[in-house]
Amino acid sequence: MKKKLYIDKQWVETTDYVELFSPYSNEKIGDIPKASKEDVEKAIDAATNASEEMANLTAYQRAEILEQLVALFIEHRERAAKLISLESAKPLKYALGEIDRTIETYKFAAEEAKRLTGEMVPMDAAKGGSNRLAYTLREPVGVVAAITPFNFPQNLVAHKIGPAIASGNTVVLKPASQTPLSAFLLAELLDQTDLPKGAFNLVTGSGKTVGDVLVESEKVKMITFTGSPAVGKGIRDKAGLKKVALELGSNSGLIIDEGVDMDTVIEKVVIGSFSNQGQVCISLQRIYIMESLIEEFLTRFKEATAKLEVGDPLDPSTEISAMISKEEQQRAETWVQEAVAEGAKLVIGGKVEDEVFQPTILTQVAADSKVSCQEVFAPIVIVNSIQSVEQGISEINNSDYGLQAGIFTNDIKTAFNASKKLQVGGVLINDIPTFRVDQMPYGGVKESGNGKEGLKYTIEEMTEMKLVIWNQS
Ligand code: SIN
Repeated sequence: MKKKLYIDKQWVETTDYVELFSPYSNEKIGDIPKASKEDVEKAIDAATNASEEMANLTAYQRAEILEQLVALFIEHRERAAKLISLESAKPLKYALGEIDRTIETYKFAAEEAKRLTGEMVPMDAAKGGSNRLAYTLREPVGVVAAITPFNFPQNLVAHKIGPAIASGNTVVLKPASQTPLSAFLLAELLDQTDLPKGAFNLVTGSGKTVGDVLVESEKVKMITFTGSPAVGKGIRDKAGLKKVALELGSNSGLIIDEGVDMDTVIEKVVIGSFSNQGQVCISLQRIYIMESLIEEFLTRFKEATAKLEVGDPLDPSTEISAMISKEEQQRAETWVQEAVAEGAKLVIGGKVEDEVFQPTILTQVAADSKVSCQEVFAPIVIVNSIQSVEQGISEINNSDYGLQAGIFTNDIKTAFNASKKLQVGGVLINDIPTFRVDQMPYGGVKESGNGKEGLKYTIEEMTEMKLVIWNQS
């Protein structure tokens, strides 16, 4: 129950602890160390000292460490999933899905470790460049600080730790304060691999103490952060010249054109809107559907939503459980009430029942209602009618965010036009914006952040290009 920090391959006690409670049952599930400024500095020093050894590992060795981690996650699959459900209230079947993705993410990282290449530069293409052989190399940046969110406590951590190890960096991880148990398990598993001492360090505690020390330290060369735009901007302001990769939120939209197969659409939008209680950066938040379809769509979407199994996250049949905290559930209720006061119609849900904020559909929602224009991060989706796909595109683009967007259409020209005009990092044709597999480039524009995840792309962010020129004359 009482956890310890993991610094320089040692479990370290600290003076302050904070109690951790399950968001669904409210039972106490741990005492979590609150790292002091000095603890964080020790972790950064350990990572700094390990940098040279880590950078000198061969690609084969880095891949092997990641493969060892994959094997350990396979062995501890059920335990890892239960921890996620316990600390975040993610329903077990989705938590198992997250661990399967985590395993795949580390596998991709192991593969990418072996593909870290540069390129030949044709120097003689320039007048003064003849008789030179030139090529680029990728070198690790050094110490990477990873600050991770509660919504995917293993897989979004894997998206930072996997590429960092694959490219020879060392890491200090600060997991979300709501979901530290998964990070302690990761430390326990990494401890059993051949990862050099000090190459991975785990510090838990407040964003103010731990986060600020990491962001402001001169020894940290890169911050990789997933979380809210407000915190992301704060990090960028304080980070000085270090690299910063920000994966922030969104209010992802979907357009539904005429003539599409409604059975497929309904099945997908239920998952897109409500999986993990909508606490996903690419959760489906705004649906724009051709006016001729909206009545049938709302009837069928409501029916399918009413059938979702709501309850205990550890029950294998549960599909929706509690949000991450009572405060967040209260916020979701308030935003729905505000939208209704601003003219929206509530189709289903909108309140907390049996400890769980119920999956919620709203229609006729004003574009400036919070549930539309801000990131809702709750199981709330709005459905508004449109007169044309073009109108849907401009509704989706009318947002501070731009992570992913989707369109269901049978018309190839319409799909092509949408893919060109949607101002997002990823466009999904005939799918929900919530779709993601872990090797694909993933990251947004506007306030959704900068930099890409997807192992190959993160490795580019976590390395510096070095040019070598041989003068043969
Ligand atoms: C996120 O919330 O950004 C991650 C979504 C996912 O990995 O499926």
